[in-house]
Amino acid sequence: MEFEQTFINFLLRHQEKYNRTYNFLILMDALISAAKHIQHYYLTGALKGNLGYANLINVQGEDVMQMDQIAHEIAIHYLKTTERVIRAVSEEADDIISLNEDTGRYFIYFDPLDGSSNVSHGLPVGFLFGIAKRNLEGPEDYHLRAGRDYIAAGMFVIPTGTFTIALKDAGTWRFHIDETMNYVKPIQMALPEDKKSWELSFNSANRNTYSEKVQKWIVANEQKYAFRYLGALAGDFHRILSNGGMFMYPAIVNHPNPKKNRPDGKLRLMYEAAVVAFMCKEAGGDAVNEKGIPILDIEPEKHHQRTALYVGSKPLVDEIAAVLRSQ
Ligand code: AHG
Ligand code: MN
Ligand code: MN
Repeated sequence: MEFEQTFINFLLRHQEKYNRTYNFLILMDALISAAKHIQHYYLTGALKGNLGYANLINVQGEDVMQMDQIAHEIAIHYLKTTERVIRAVSEEADDIISLNEDTGRYFIYFDPLDGSSNVSHGLPVGFLFGIAKRNLEGPEDYHLRAGRDYIAAGMFVIPTGTFTIALKDAGTWRFHIDETMNYVKPIQMALPEDKKSWELSFNSANRNTYSEKVQKWIVANEQKYAFRYLGALAGDFHRILSNGGMFMYPAIVNHPNPKKNRPDGKLRLMYEAAVVAFMCKEAGGDAVNEKGIPILDIEPEKHHQRTALYVGSKPLVDEIAAVLRSQ
């Protein structure tokens, strides 16, 4: 029989090596419990009727699925039990959620269920999170942190049983769930240099709505790479991290119905774009917005702020960034 190192063991050793406290472990243990709980609901959802719509519209003006709400409630429940989270930002809550203003140590920004359009099919969705730390020296200003100030960011792809986490300056690691429901076997992720496996991932149905320079770049380059699109950032980015290439959700500026333009893109900065950008950076890649500015450098003004996103292998992101910065 073969046994693998568990995630919790990996993390304990990591904290020990860097002389860190156990507080982060308590938080991560809660996130693992939340992810397993969400996965359980998802797996039995079709049978129990949990995969439909909740007859609600969320703060983004989108239909809320029952699973979005269930996942949000599960995540908040476990975060509360840690007594270490100051405030939480969830895609499914209009306001910032205050948890432990006095004793808390971390800020967490999360999308409890990413890829809602896959829910009614039981196909992969994600639970994405970014974590920042309170200002331990001097007064806490409660400002929303830029991605470069996250200490960790990760995603569970549900119900596939994979978990990827990046720890600041310590790499991006992937784990798989085993038969005892433990996440095990740390594998360090590094974007492959060999272009043979690179993929492009974007909603091709939107291509005519992108800026002319982005459209031009696509026409000139798309045939060099394989094309894959699942419609859930967590799943699409999971592939890019393994195979290399680039995921993009460009700004929509040429929609035939101008009301449907999205000059700021669709994805949310704090709990989608910055999370994957952080993981990508720790794996040797990069990410920029529509102006070619690094995603991790953007200081959020609003917690539900949107951004265009280009994330993946550094040479490709550099290439598109040069195009985006050009006049
Ligand atoms: P969410 O389900 O949390 O609202 O996020 C969906 C996002 C993201 O996961 C995905 O990459 C993108 O929306 C897909 O959008 P399109 O359907 O416009 O391609
Ligand atoms: Mn999402
Ligand atoms: Mn979501």
